[in-house]
Amino acid sequence: MIIGIDIGSTTTKAVSVEEVPGSGTDDRRRVIRKIKTRAEDAVTSATGAFGKMIVENNIRMTDIERIMITGAGAGKLTGNLFGIPTEKVDEIRAIGIGGMFQARRENIIITNIGTGTAIIDAQRDSIVHLGGSGVGGGTIQGLAKKLLPTTDFNGIMELAAAGDLGQVDLRLGDIMDTWLSFLNRESTASNFGKMLDSARNEDIALGIINMVYQVIGMLSVFAAKSRNTGRVVVTGNGSDNPLGKRVLAELTGMYKIEFEYPADAAYTTAIGAGLSFAGF
Ligand SMILES: Nc1ncnc2c1ncn2[C@@H]1O[C@H](COP(=O)(O)OP(=O)(O)OP(=O)(O)O)[C@@H](O)[C@H]1O
Ligand SMILES: [Mg+2]
Repeated sequence: MIIGIDIGSTTTKAVSVEEVPGSGTDDRRRVIRKIKTRAEDAVTSATGAFGKMIVENNIRMTDIERIMITGAGAGKLTGNLFGIPTEKVDEIRAIGIGGMFQARRENIIITNIGTGTAIIDAQRDSIVHLGGSGVGGGTIQGLAKKLLPTTDFNGIMELAAAGDLGQVDLRLGDIMDTWLSFLNRESTASNFGKMLDSARNEDIALGIINMVYQVIGMLSVFAAKSRNTGRVVVTGNGSDNPLGKRVLAELTGMYKIEFEYPADAAYTTAIGAGLSFAGF
């Protein structure tokens, strides 16, 4: 068994990856268990996630062949963990391999929405970091801290669900009577460019979510177009956001780029780290 650990800037994810005897070549590797934790420092969160995985699943230490570590905090760990051979994996490579495994195909564009956002072109023999943005889940939480009465993610989403974008965003219909190329009256001309005095917390929450996913979505659209593909695989904790998905769906309507959300996309990077083990 291989354990993949992704020490992200906000959360640490651990998965176990095993070969399944007797199954077809494509399905021979299975992700069996998944754990998510949060801790102040890298070593505590990595060892904590690992320990939780072992204890909750009655895993025998002798069954673990290797621990594969990636993510922003990976550099903080030196040497082997608990006497088990431990290897570092480049985070971009881990996202690429995990994304291809979850999408069940190669030659894909992956947009990983974590604390920040990374966009990756993943092919079987070449995984390239196209770029990204500091706009991501951390942006939502940081802005919420100063602008909203809650930093709890569910609380932010509840507020946003009742929001009215017309209170905060300047839309094309506010400034023009006609369409501007393919943009209609509802299209955003300037995020937070209107900000009426009557704007409520609900409206601001929705404005934040809308802005973050519009930025990430447009970067993804340009990345996909630059690689002549019509699809983008979305991963990271930020991929599981109903309002964010709605914003991305609007971009699909405008730019004809489809967004795809694999199951367990919060674990893509950890899974990719586990699958990077050369023995697989
Ligand atoms: N439902 C959600 N929608 C959007 N963002 C979310 C959601 N739940 C959590 N987040 C945000 O996702 C971020 C954590 O995501 P993830 O665990 O993928 O990132 P990370 O791996 O720690 O960071 P990075 O990959 O950028 O180093 C946090 O900033 C958190 O605020
Ligand atoms: Mg991450």
